[in-house]
Amino acid sequence: MAGRFFLTTPIYYVNDAPHLGTAYSTVNADALARWHRLIGDDTWFLTGTDEHGLKMARAAQDQGVTPIEWVDKMSRRYLEAWSGLEISNDDFIRTTEPRHIEAVQRFMQAIYDNGYMHKGLYEGWYCVSCEAYYPESDLIGGNLCPLHERPVEWLTEENWFFELSRFEQPLLEWYEKHEDAIFPASRRNEALGIIKGGLQDISITRTSIDWGIPVPWDSAHVVYVWYDALINYITAIGYGEDPGRFADWWPSVHHLLGKDIIRFHCVWWPAMCLAAGIEPPAHFIVHGWLLVGGEKMSKTKLNQIDPVELAPDGGVDALRYHLVREVTLGADGDFTYEGLIARYNADLANNLGNLLARVAAVVASKCGGIGPAPRAAGPDVRLSEVAAEVVTAWREAWSGFAGHEALEATWRLVRAANGELEAAEPWKLEPGEAVEAVLGDALEALRIVAVLVSPVMPSAAGELWRRIGLAGRPDEPASGGEAGDLRWGVYPGGRSVTKGEPLFPRRAGEH
Ligand code: MSP
Repeated sequence: MAGRFFLTTPIYYVNDAPHLGTAYSTVNADALARWHRLIGDDTWFLTGTDEHGLKMARAAQDQGVTPIEWVDKMSRRYLEAWSGLEISNDDFIRTTEPRHIEAVQRFMQAIYDNGYMHKGLYEGWYCVSCEAYYPESDLIGGNLCPLHERPVEWLTEENWFFELSRFEQPLLEWYEKHEDAIFPASRRNEALGIIKGGLQDISITRTSIDWGIPVPWDSAHVVYVWYDALINYITAIGYGEDPGRFADWWPSVHHLLGKDIIRFHCVWWPAMCLAAGIEPPAHFIVHGWLLVGGEKMSKTKLNQIDPVELAPDGGVDALRYHLVREVTLGADGDFTYEGLIARYNADLANNLGNLLARVAAVVASKCGGIGPAPRAAGPDVRLSEVAAEVVTAWREAWSGFAGHEALEATWRLVRAANGELEAAEPWKLEPGEAVEAVLGDALEALRIVAVLVSPVMPSAAGELWRRIGLAGRPDEPASGGEAGDLRWGVYPGGRSVTKGEPLFPRRAGEH
């Protein structure tokens, strides 16, 4: 039965250009969103940029431009990068937009009115890169940020405090009732550990800068960037402005995030929601880091590589494939260019690409270029059995946020189809029933594979679809038509099959 699926990515700081690490989050989210659309869910996929705070103000100053000029320019880079990576977001939120500023002020006012804010003095060690205070015990060598290994700064401010300490018990109770709120389960323990370790009130306004959203009841202050940013998730669905729309999508949201921002998402944000009188978000999907040479990838650390430029000439789909296939969502994974090329050649060029090329060549030479229909499903049609098993595994994998397993399963069908061709060797046979049987089955397997890979490789899936002579798109939800239908026996036959250039030309390892 079709349902609703609201998915978010973190909103990215615009002082970093998009890089492979942020692309990792966004592509994985995109594939998940596309899968939900494919199975007919009413889907809303949100991403965007986080544009306030000291870091942004300083970056603009360094460039000799105003903050808004700077963030306008940098935010466009995200839009461009995500469009280059075929990201299918339904909305793109910027925290400098009026709709967000209004939502933050409404939300803050609700928390203030509910009595969870007080004024106080704050002093502490602040890392501008993290936009966060650190206790001295967390610093490396007494003065370096544990994440960036850069010097922290001592800040003293009169701030408004959010009374997070009052939410220890309510949060524990909420997590008790919502056992599956955090995926994977190991991350749930981490969040519970933070809560049980004791929560302190947090300073959530600043007077030292003016690049932020004014606090509605005290305009000398602007809202701290993290507090502002988290609220984007409800701005985008009409919080305080369109109650019907808000009720449609909240609280059954899925927040995808990296393990570096668990505290903000799994501790602060649910407490903020409780304080404002709304339900906490239903679900968090926490992924690991993409590492280069064992270190977290980021622009400050290493690579300014534009993710789109990294894509092999097989197109951005090949990069998307690698980002979903290589690493289990939740675990860390190492990225190497050699690994990308090796997997591209093995899985895409030699396996899937080769299957299509072979089928198209034999259809041309033995069937006049017109694809035959498959045989009826049954125990003697091995591919129909493999396809049924694979479709079940694929569905289970995506339901459990395991895109890599869904692809692994799909390649069982690709390999089985290649295996059937090798066993039957239709290129050696005279045209006739035997040739048509093996080619019809292979074409049906290719049709099913096009649907199965469409969440991860939308363009390649579309091209595969056209090559085997089908109309429409493989990623349209099944509605009795050709598309999206994963039952065996749908390929109609009688369609022109195109030989064409290799779908995934083999690549040498150089870059
Ligand atoms: N602006 C905050 C998030 C606010 S959300 C309300 C922020 N931005 S960020 O630009 O630093 O991006 C953080 C997210 O980018 C991480 O949580 C993660 O999802 C993704 N990644 C950034 N580098 C990454 C890797 N090297 N590997 C995997 N994901 C990475 O924090």
